Amino acid sequence: MPVYLNGAYLDKAAARVSVDDRGFLFGDGVYEVTRARAGRLFAGDRHLLRLERGMQELELRWPEGLDAAGLAAVSERLLRENDLGEGDAMVYVQITRGGEGTPRTHVFPGPGTPPTVYAAASRFTPPDDARTRGAAAITVPDLRWGRCDLKTIQLLPNVLAKQRAAAAGAYDAVQVRDGIVTEGAHTNVFALLGGVLRTHPAGPRILPGITREIVLELARELELTTSEEPIPAAELPRAAEVFFTGTTTDVMPVVRLDGHALGGGRPGPVAGQLQAKLLERLHATTTGVTPAGR
Ligand code: PDD
Repeated sequence: MPVYLNGAYLDKAAARVSVDDRGFLFGDGVYEVTRARAGRLFAGDRHLLRLERGMQELELRWPEGLDAAGLAAVSERLLRENDLGEGDAMVYVQITRGGEGTPRTHVFPGPGTPPTVYAAASRFTPPDDARTRGAAAITVPDLRWGRCDLKTIQLLPNVLAKQRAAAAGAYDAVQVRDGIVTEGAHTNVFALLGGVLRTHPAGPRILPGITREIVLELARELELTTSEEPIPAAELPRAAEVFFTGTTTDVMPVVRLDGHALGGGRPGPVAGQLQAKLLERLHATTTGVTPAGR
């Protein structure tokens, strides 16, 4: 199981990061999770763009000799070397501010301090059984900070929300801030209300999900009316459909919310159509075959 750490490919059990690392001490870093199929990244450019935007916002710099294109090549090599050239897989990449050998201070270490770059590829099984049945969700208060648009490794509120969902037998938690649905613990949230497919607008309160962005494109291709406008949590129970989207989720219909049936208690047709189109796009981009009409 080779992983990538700071320029080297090594056995995962042999990979070591310093206890001074600011990822460990401060959660000072960013990450990406990218889907792969047949050994190729799905929407890899979009994920790398988001990673680079996060790095810019946090003043994290690439180490000598690495950039976004280089990290894509690292990801594909990891897929090959882990025998993931067929089927579904995912690649995790993380860049922290490093700090080995520096004292623990809140202020950034000196400009010569190299970041820590870690990447790993693993097998991924899409949650298709849950999708067929439809998932349960719970609502939780959104406890996060003011820059949820950055994909930082500080995930404690997300971890607590997901844990509460898991303890309740639910797939994910719908986070609610000031009465507005923001997003899931590791997903974005869509609702079909009055014939309009709505999701929270991009901005500091949500992660601009790559799957969210693709699903909005696919919805327009299906000539659905979409609107990036806040969804009051109080409106969710009367939604015709609610679903989560995300790299490890695809389109997941929600059929129970806080113990009550949603959308008739069965996965709805819009979620089904969008899931089918998403798979079509995934298969097309990872095999190089363009879907008809595009
Ligand atoms: N999470 N919102 C949050 C808070 C997320 O962490 C994620 C992804 C999403 C969906 O984004 P995307 O479609 O780009 O995957 C939305 C990843 C999968 C994770 O933390 O494992």
